[in-house]
Formats: sequence, structure tokens, C-alpha cells
Amino acid sequence: MKVSGFIWLLLWFTFVTAGCWGQTLRQEAERDGILVSTAARLPPLSEPAYAATLAREFNMLEPEDAMKWAALRPDERTFDFREADALVRFAVEHKMKVRGHCLTWGRNNPDWLMQGHFTSNQLSRLLHEHITRVMEHYSGQVFAWDVVNEALEEKGTVRGSIWYDQPGIGFAGQGTAHIEQAFRWAHEADPKALLFYNEAEGEWMNRKSDAIYAMLKDFKQRGVPIDGVGLQMHIPFLEADTYGIAANIARLAALGLQVNITELDVSLPLDSNSMVRAEDLLRQAEIYRAIVRACLNSSNCTAIQTWGFTDKYSWIGSHSRGTRGQALPFDRIYRSKPAYRAVLDELSAGRSQSR
Ligand code: G3I
Repeated sequence: MKVSGFIWLLLWFTFVTAGCWGQTLRQEAERDGILVSTAARLPPLSEPAYAATLAREFNMLEPEDAMKWAALRPDERTFDFREADALVRFAVEHKMKVRGHCLTWGRNNPDWLMQGHFTSNQLSRLLHEHITRVMEHYSGQVFAWDVVNEALEEKGTVRGSIWYDQPGIGFAGQGTAHIEQAFRWAHEADPKALLFYNEAEGEWMNRKSDAIYAMLKDFKQRGVPIDGVGLQMHIPFLEADTYGIAANIARLAALGLQVNITELDVSLPLDSNSMVRAEDLLRQAEIYRAIVRACLNSSNCTAIQTWGFTDKYSWIGSHSRGTRGQALPFDRIYRSKPAYRAVLDELSAGRSQSR
């Protein structure tokens, strides 16, 4: 059988960049049954270095944007699964799990939805249909979903959104009832899928994590189907309260909830030449290390996922207008950084190390 040039290039790249015979993140993670994952994009999959690094280092992936409403719903009647399907195919080919992101979010929705002047009844029908169609399409392939993303404000109150109160799906002014409804629909659509609430800025003890905790405690007490919480973990200031993260994960464990670290990145300030300071790369590595350790020390923390893996493809650059960057474990030419080494070391040490 003829092996294509692309495959040879992929094999060559895998060999050189794996440090020849060294262990990879996924090999180390698999010894303890941990999922080590990353957000993935479709266009760069055609780059051998991107594809090889993704398959070599991670045992799970999550489409960064391809499963959002804007990608899946070009118009009211059409579902376009092509991009997301291609990422799922890549995962299956490389024996990786797939985490789905995200079924309900106030942002990144298509214009036809945001500007459609739908009534609450219509929106309710649209969201129910969306959750059902998407989860049924990926049933058996996507094992866990961010059912609701970022529905709370920093101070812990419910965030205004098309799903809550603009005009919402029929529960405006009723606290977290619209979130509950999304979880109930998701469980009906795929009873086997793990269902997560995913949130930013609630990683350690603060008003927002207190509000998440209170909501989930209420959900658990009333039998709302929910399995876990995604702690996003975008770290913008080279500081992370890792004791607070551990305490937060522990209180969620006491509710019987899993935790996934879902969007880890640690962005660095860039100088006018887009360079970072060497000491910042080392501080960044220590933050990665401490967060991975906090997860590994908590038996309910089942996945560690970075938001992309190469600095070549990261949301940070454009969203910070070029003032911050280099947030991920691999640089722009797929060389591993100190952060990679720190994550690898902690995964090698495994779950039982207390530091
Ligand atoms: O799809 C269009 C493409 O057709 C067009 O050519 C291109 C031109 O800019 O834009 C493309 O859309 C972009 C989309 O990502 C898909 O790549 C949007 O402009 C861009 O704003 C969008 O950004 C994403 C953002 O969420 C909004 O959905 C980022 O890639 C993604 O990293 C970011 O991820 C979020 C998580 O979902 C939730 N938590 C926060 C996190 C960071 O903001």
C-alpha cells in the first residue's frame, strides 16, 4: 500500500518532536486514567506539525468553536455538522475522547438568531430543538458536554442573555431556571452523556464560585441532571490562587460533582517586538504546574484541558490586541516550553503526590 507524503511527514514530525523516545502528556496521563485535552481547530489540522502534536500529546479534544451555534446553525432550518464532524473523525482515528462545547451560550450566536426578534416560546422551541439535534447527532461520540456556558456575572448574579431575559426561553426573572431547563433537555437528548456547567472567573473562592456552588447544590438537591463543572482557568496576570482552586474543587466534590479544567492558558505580557521575558516563561510554568497538581490531588478532577496547545493558534493574541500572548505549552513552531515540561512532570508524578 502506498503511504502518502503527508503521512510520512507526520511520522517524521512525531519522531523528532516527541524528544525521540520520551513520554508524552497522554502516555503519562493514561497511567492514572486522567484525560489530558486541548481545544482544537479544523483549518490547522492540515498542518502536519499541528496534527502530529495534537494526536501525540492528548487523549481528548474539544472543538474550540466548531460546535458553537454560530458554526452549526448557518440559518434557522439548517444544521451544518461538517467542521465538527471532521474534528470528531480525527479524534476517533487517534483514539481520543471528545468533549462538546457548548450547547447554550449568550455569545457567538448567529445573527439570524440574535436579530430574529423571536418570542420566548419560539426561543424555547429553538433551544430545545438545538440541544436535541446536536446531542443526538453526536450520541456515542461526544461523551461530555458543556450544556451551559458562562451564564453568571462576575458578581454571581444571572447574566442577561437571549436565553435568560432578552427575552429568554420563558424563565426571565426566575434565577437559574433557564439553566436547569437546558440540563433537563440535554439529559433527555442523550441520557448517557456527562453534563457540565462551564464557567469563567469562578476557579477559586470568590463571589462567582460561591454562586456556582449554590446553584449546583440546589440542582443536586432537586435532582437536576448534572455531572460536573468546567473551571475554565484563563489566567491573565501570572497569578493563581491554587489553594483556593483546590478548596473549590473539594467543595464541588462534596456535592458529588466532577470537575474538568476546561480552558487553561496563562497569557504573558508581550513587549513591542512581541517577545516575552524569560522569567515570565518560568513563572508561567509554575502556574501550570500548580494547577495541574491541584487537579491531580483531587480524585473528582477528571480532565485537564488547555485552550489550544500552540501559541500559533490562540484566542489571546487577537482578543488582547497583541498586548498578551504565548499562553500555551508549545511555541509557534511546536517546540515545547517550560510549561509543557511542568505539566509532564506533574502527570508523571501522578495523582498521589501532595505538595
Ligand atoms: O468563523 C469566522 C470565519 O468565517 C471568519 O473568516 C473569521 C474572521 O475573523 O472569524 C471566524 O469567527 C471567529 C470564531 O472564533 C471562529 O474561529 C470569530 O471571529 C472569533 O471571535 C471567534 O472567537 C472565539 C471566541 O470564543 C468566541 O466564540 C475564539 O476562537 C475562542 O477561543 C473563544 O473561546 C471562548 C470559549 O468558547 C468560552 N470561554 C472563553 C473562551 C475565550 O474567549
